[in-house]
Amino acid sequence: MEGLQLKNEFDYSDKDFWDISRLVTEHSGIELPESKKSLVYSRLVRRLRTLNIMRFSEYYELVKADLSKGNEQEFLTLINAITTNVTHLFREHHHFDHLKEHLKLLSQTQDKINIWSCAASIGAEPWSIAMVVHEFCKENPSCKVRIIASDIDSEVLKQAQKGVYEVNPENVKANPYLKKYLKLEKTEDSNSPLHHSLYKISDEIRPYMEFRQINLLHNWQKEFHSKFDFVFCRNVIIYFSKQTQKQLFEKITEIMNVGAYLYLGHSESLLGITDDFENQRQTTYKKVR
Ligand SMILES: C[S@@+](CC[C@H](N)C(=O)[O-])C[C@H]1O[C@@H](n2cnc3c(N)ncnc32)[C@H](O)[C@@H]1O
Repeated sequence: MEGLQLKNEFDYSDKDFWDISRLVTEHSGIELPESKKSLVYSRLVRRLRTLNIMRFSEYYELVKADLSKGNEQEFLTLINAITTNVTHLFREHHHFDHLKEHLKLLSQTQDKINIWSCAASIGAEPWSIAMVVHEFCKENPSCKVRIIASDIDSEVLKQAQKGVYEVNPENVKANPYLKKYLKLEKTEDSNSPLHHSLYKISDEIRPYMEFRQINLLHNWQKEFHSKFDFVFCRNVIIYFSKQTQKQLFEKITEIMNVGAYLYLGHSESLLGITDDFENQRQTTYKKVR
């Protein structure tokens, strides 16, 4: 019917969207262009319902007021709702092959190795690193390896710490690391369309791992007492503006050793961002100065 417009359940104007968009960019670096307007609405409605708030403007004021008092809790809930935490074990496998090869080379000159997974989401990335590290440490027991897994979102970090994942048993069988270090918790539900079973990360690979909540936009450099040899910064900078990416890599450069490796996500690059790294191969960079 001409002229009939579907009305949103909650009041949501262009101004509400841009207020939220600015707040998110200012405090997390995540850019929300106009194309994300309906996504923001659909990802946040449930939260407004829970809080019994009828207008996005009211929700924005609530988050802003909390932030100005130094309380980040609701802001993190907002970030959790709008970001994509998609990840899986051994995503972009070539990075883990590179890590395996270079752990071996590095251990010829040093006996302590530090690795950071800086947008770890629910932990599939750092646990995949830990599997490779554990295999390496069994062969090289004098080398001490530490993995720090961090994310802005405390909820995903809780899941990461649990280390429980739904995986297709065929994929577990096909990957020697998963076969060894995933323990079956619950067999697939025959009604599940994906035929996934529930697996838990084995206890033997847990000692390498330390979890921390870190917002990449903040100044976290002094939190680390030693420099890193490998940094996984994958599938997070796509959300940031070029300017935010430049500022982030200035800080990342500070906490990496010369000769250390940086891994980015499949659609990310350092082109026009920093000259401190040399591209080695697909999305794999070496710090050269
Ligand atoms: C798509 S996941 C990437 C997971 C993993 N690195 C991978 O490639 O499979 C993106 C993650 O970045 C996190 N993130 C977004 N902005 C962030 C920020 N400012 N500081 C730290 N983490 C952030 C999100 O919470 C989310 O868990």
